[in-house]
Amino acid sequence: MSQLKTISILDNIPSSTQSKSKPEKLSYYTHRCRSNFPFAIPISKFSLSCILFLSLLLFYTFKSPSSPPRRSLAVDWGGAAWERRVRSSARVRSRPGHSVLVTGAAGFVGMHVSIALKRRGDGVLGLDNFNGYYDQTLKRARQGMLERTGVFVVEGDINDKELLKKLFDVVSFTHVLHLAAQAGVRYAIQNPSSYVHSNIAGFVNLLEVCKSANPQPAIVWASSSSVYGLNSKLPFSEKDRTDNPASLYAATKKAGEEIAHTYNHIYGLSITGLRFFTVYGPWGRPDMAYYFFTKDILNRRPITIFEAPGHGSVARDFTFIDDVVKGCIAALDTAKKSTGSGGKKKGPAQLRIYNLGNTSPVPVSDLVSILEKHLKVKAIRKVQPMPRNGDVRFTHANISLAQKELGYKPTTDLEAGLKKFVRWYLSYYPDAKKKSAWDFEVLDCIS
Ligand SMILES: *[C@@H]1O[C@H](CO)[C@@H](O)[C@H](O)[C@H]1NC(C)=O
Repeated sequence: MSQLKTISILDNIPSSTQSKSKPEKLSYYTHRCRSNFPFAIPISKFSLSCILFLSLLLFYTFKSPSSPPRRSLAVDWGGAAWERRVRSSARVRSRPGHSVLVTGAAGFVGMHVSIALKRRGDGVLGLDNFNGYYDQTLKRARQGMLERTGVFVVEGDINDKELLKKLFDVVSFTHVLHLAAQAGVRYAIQNPSSYVHSNIAGFVNLLEVCKSANPQPAIVWASSSSVYGLNSKLPFSEKDRTDNPASLYAATKKAGEEIAHTYNHIYGLSITGLRFFTVYGPWGRPDMAYYFFTKDILNRRPITIFEAPGHGSVARDFTFIDDVVKGCIAALDTAKKSTGSGGKKKGPAQLRIYNLGNTSPVPVSDLVSILEKHLKVKAIRKVQPMPRNGDVRFTHANISLAQKELGYKPTTDLEAGLKKFVRWYLSYYPDAKKKSAWDFEVLDCIS
């Protein structure tokens, strides 16, 4: 995943946040180049091809997913002071508590769960590779939040076996909350290998280290509602088939569930998979619709709302972050111990899967209306047929299993949740506040 840093600079990222800031930067550079040009020394064709060759060489050296872990380049870990920080962050402050390794800690769900655990007195160590899939400033800001709560985030990749082994040498984690992943449904068309790298290779690497750890930790990890794919039976229940994924993202998450089964079966690892349903809220992911709709509405840019064939609406079972945090913590609290040791199974271990949804799907057009209300700005809506690029028409979770076994009970509806999101958004982006102060009359004249 550290390779992603290099890739993402070159690839187009589908999030409106990033693709829109690019042309500006680009024109700035070309402008600078042009104004400098008359004074530049003419470059021969030979040196030009040398430069080209060297940059290609450099690019492929850093890009290649098969290149060995570049610890010296990507991460700077180890040493007595570093180990002290790791130990202190993972130390349980009030008993009984867990000592949890959270992967993807600088991510949206990762930050929220880490803070909630830490505040409760559990030990928490974060791990994140801070890749460039979306705005890294936001990830760094989340890291700031974590550090103020006492959570140290180790900068590294779940594919780095040496680093993971080291972490388990330093701390006997009781639990791993594995949230690191390549997310996003549509981005898989542009960068399929990053899904395989993070969601499959990275997950296997993590499980390998967990199975060899002594004691083995219990694992709770993020699967996805997307595993239900093109299913038409509603609501989605854990017992339903999940063998018709609509995207590579979904396929890698489904693969993760099968891989979890294997490691549970062979090594006695206790594993719980959580199928998240469109999690949203403050500090969310900028590649998600509610987030970039907010940005585009404030900037008076048209937003695209997809519709299903025959003008059918596209709906999502939006789940507020605080509810998901409670679900994650309940999964950790109810996880039984792994049964293996030294890489050997000693007896059957727990294997669970739960839907974490809101069980109340909302059409995307209603989501936009709620945003308009909270932002006090009218959206410019463009309705288009949904392209076949990985999205499904409908998601709706049956949460009775999570309710029964985890005590999971979502309490925030989309209206209340988006209100909290908008409040956060306007305070996080200082410029956004001015834009929301416009009144409807002015806007009606423009649109
Ligand atoms: C929801 O799932 C439970 C099993 O967890 C099942 O008994 C129930 O019938 C399902 N409800 C619906 C409406 O499908």
